[in-house]
Amino acid sequence: MIELKHINKYYKVGDFQLHVLKDVNLKIESGDFVGIMGPSGSGKSTLVNVLGFLDSDYEGEYLFEGNLISNLIDKKISAIRNKTVGFVFQEFNLIETQTIFENVQLPLLYNGQTSRKTKEIVQTTLEKVGLAEKGNQLPSQLSGGQRQRAAIARALINHPKFIIADEPTGALDTATSRNIMTILQELNQKEGVTLVMVTHDPNLLEYCTHKVEVIDGRVRKEERL
Ligand SMILES: Nc1ncnc2c1ncn2[C@@H]1O[C@H](COP(=O)(O)OP(=O)(O)OP(=O)(O)O)[C@@H](O)[C@H]1O
Ligand SMILES: [Mg+2]
Repeated sequence: MIELKHINKYYKVGDFQLHVLKDVNLKIESGDFVGIMGPSGSGKSTLVNVLGFLDSDYEGEYLFEGNLISNLIDKKISAIRNKTVGFVFQEFNLIETQTIFENVQLPLLYNGQTSRKTKEIVQTTLEKVGLAEKGNQLPSQLSGGQRQRAAIARALINHPKFIIADEPTGALDTATSRNIMTILQELNQKEGVTLVMVTHDPNLLEYCTHKVEVIDGRVRKEERL
């Protein structure tokens, strides 16, 4: 599904070029649940931003389902991103002034669907993450775990081909983390959603099918048992 070939990524810091991704070669197959680990500053978030089409400023080739993405113009990439990827972040990134229902509905409206048509889809997706009763609440009225479940519902609503989760449990306690991981694992196992998750917690690798290690910008993929 995803293939990175000889990706190099630099950040400009003043006159200096910081080499952040170093000759990265990586394949992710449909149905994989990839856990990305590595020290702070090693390039994990940079890597998933490239994978999720958020960053196209790199050298090398990105093939998605066999098509070269790295040469496309930004407008085309945004259109592909909206249809293809869902994002879950540590800080949830929900819009605080909108209800949970509206937050989850938003990607559908971006895709040009009318509000009336989306109601049922939004409700079904909220049910899937156990938030059927919480649609009318504001994010501030939910617990951290519930907010993350709302963020997962928002990531799922467009039926993305894969989901990028950058430390999705980083702000949650252990029990709540397990609950979120169970939801992600069910999506992976029952619905075949491909998942790419950054985590600092080695215990969470038990939910993954593969481990990717990022050390000083270099990347290695390993199969889990
Ligand atoms: N926008 C930026 N401009 C300049 N340097 C950056 C930028 N973003 C990240 N970096 C640098 O790139 C390197 C990799 O950062 P990245 O955020 O990918 O690390 P990470 O592995 O996700 O770390 P963490 O585990 O702390 O989240 C770091 O040295 C960081 O300082
Ligand atoms: Mg990071």
